[in-house]
Amino acid sequence: MNKKIKIFGFGGSLRKESYSFMLLKNAAKLVPDDVEIRLFEPSKLEAIPNFNQDKETSPEPALIEFKNEIKAADALLISTPEYNYSVPGYLKNAIDCASRPYTDNAFLNKPVALMSVSSGMLGGVKAQFSLRQSFVFLQMPAVNKPEILISNAGEKFDSKGDLKDEKTKQLITELLKNLSNLTRKLKTDS
Ligand SMILES: Cc1cc2nc3c(=O)[nH]c(=O)nc-3n(C[C@H](O)[C@H](O)[C@H](O)COP(=O)(O)O)c2cc1C
Repeated sequence: MNKKIKIFGFGGSLRKESYSFMLLKNAAKLVPDDVEIRLFEPSKLEAIPNFNQDKETSPEPALIEFKNEIKAADALLISTPEYNYSVPGYLKNAIDCASRPYTDNAFLNKPVALMSVSSGMLGGVKAQFSLRQSFVFLQMPAVNKPEILISNAGEKFDSKGDLKDEKTKQLITELLKNLSNLTRKLKTDS
């Protein structure tokens, strides 16, 4: 497969200065040459209504756009904060909505890589673990390493929102390379 791998990145939080969306924007600058990336603004996640199974066959435009972006991509990159030891509600809701109806799970077989950010010391590891459980049910092959867990977020970005630490940038570059390699391998095998 000589074409560029298309990655669709989403997540972040709904607040303006979201560190987790900053992280996604940093990752977008680090993609390998064989990759192109599109990012979904968190405000678009906010526009997706709460999941209601009675309405799952008549999706709102915000959800149709989200599902179309996922389907058009070869792979996904998610960046999340941790809320109360788990995945923030708006993000879980968007994932639940795009996974339905059962016969139209937009995530099916879509390779995924994950990053998390926290103002605390553990970098959102529990939010990652929780999302990784959903990846199993959604049948998404996930990149496991390196783990991108940004702790003490307030100290990690400069005033322009760029990551300060070179080692962290190297790990994100490696994560993206692993996602691109996994995606190419799965396409070759299928
Ligand atoms: C409702 C709520 C719950 C939170 N729970 C956790 C938590 O369980 N673990 C943690 O490390 N940080 C927690 N935090 C702090 C977040 O890590 C911090 O606000 C982070 O910056 C959010 O990401 P953002 O900058 O993308 O908005 C919580 C924040 C909020 C608003």
